[in-house]
Amino acid sequence: MTQHKQPFEGEKNIVTNFENRMTYTDYLHLNDVLACQQPLTDEHDEMLFITVHHISELWMKQILHEVKSATKDMQAERLPEAFKKLARVSQVQNQLKNVWDVLATLTPADYLKFRDSLGNSSGFQSYQNRLLEFYFGYKTPHILKIYAHEPKIAVQLQEAYEAPSLYDEAIRILAKRGFAIDEAVLQRDLTQKYEANDSVKEAWKAVYRAPETYFELYELAEELVDIEDLFQQWRFRHMKTVERIIGFKKGTGGSGGVSYLKKVLDQYFFPELWQLRTEL
Ligand code: HEM
Repeated sequence: MTQHKQPFEGEKNIVTNFENRMTYTDYLHLNDVLACQQPLTDEHDEMLFITVHHISELWMKQILHEVKSATKDMQAERLPEAFKKLARVSQVQNQLKNVWDVLATLTPADYLKFRDSLGNSSGFQSYQNRLLEFYFGYKTPHILKIYAHEPKIAVQLQEAYEAPSLYDEAIRILAKRGFAIDEAVLQRDLTQKYEANDSVKEAWKAVYRAPETYFELYELAEELVDIEDLFQQWRFRHMKTVERIIGFKKGTGGSGGVSYLKKVLDQYFFPELWQLRTEL
């Protein structure tokens, strides 16, 4: 076998002395990140379960970063900037959705070996998932109780709970651009789950009937639909993967399990954007 004693072209200037330099591991805090995957049992498959959750939470963190910033862009009517971020959100959601393919390699028998060690912990308590739902306008106050004992998380949840959602901002833009939106919607109690409204539906219908006249709003609407569509695809894959792994057993978080996950599929963030399609 030929041994390369000399570095080949392109390798010559590789830095190897890191005494006073930051490495890749330092920059990324990899020792911290990679120390977090700590199975509670010796079961081989628990590592996959933890890794998939960590990856999902990291992607949610990135989505939150983009959505919060896109919401500010919309407040300032900087739509092209918002579009760029929302398009990225959809790409990240695709990654999130694909992790189910990996997790689906976990069989019921594999999972049962370590399920008891989870106690009552469940994705139901994922506060990043709740922050996302709040930023999309789906406000569920009962979630706030779960983190009453963790002030840092509670503050973040409360802030998002009281803040205008991405969709509230989209509706305000419709009003700013001359569409007649009911005052009740513009002045709504932001802590309530958004409910569909006819004036909003009529405005979006007008946009879809004349896309060339309202191209920015049309693009905004379609980006929101992309996001909701992908969110629902994620929910569906979650529900089916859970059915595949635990059947119709109750969840560790205390819900009915798959029956609960099926019910959540009926929720809409941006209802009028879906309703208008039947009426065009
Ligand atoms: C073996 C894998 C999994 C099983 C069996 C499972 C099961 C469940 C069940 C039964 C629920 C309903 C609440 C409960 O009673 O616990 C739930 C909720 C949830 N899970 Fe999972 N899950 C799995 C993996 C994941 C992963 C990888 C994530 C990614 C973060 C996740 C995120 C969530 C979220 C966000 C909810 C709340 C859904 C909502 O309320 O709309 N789950 N899960």
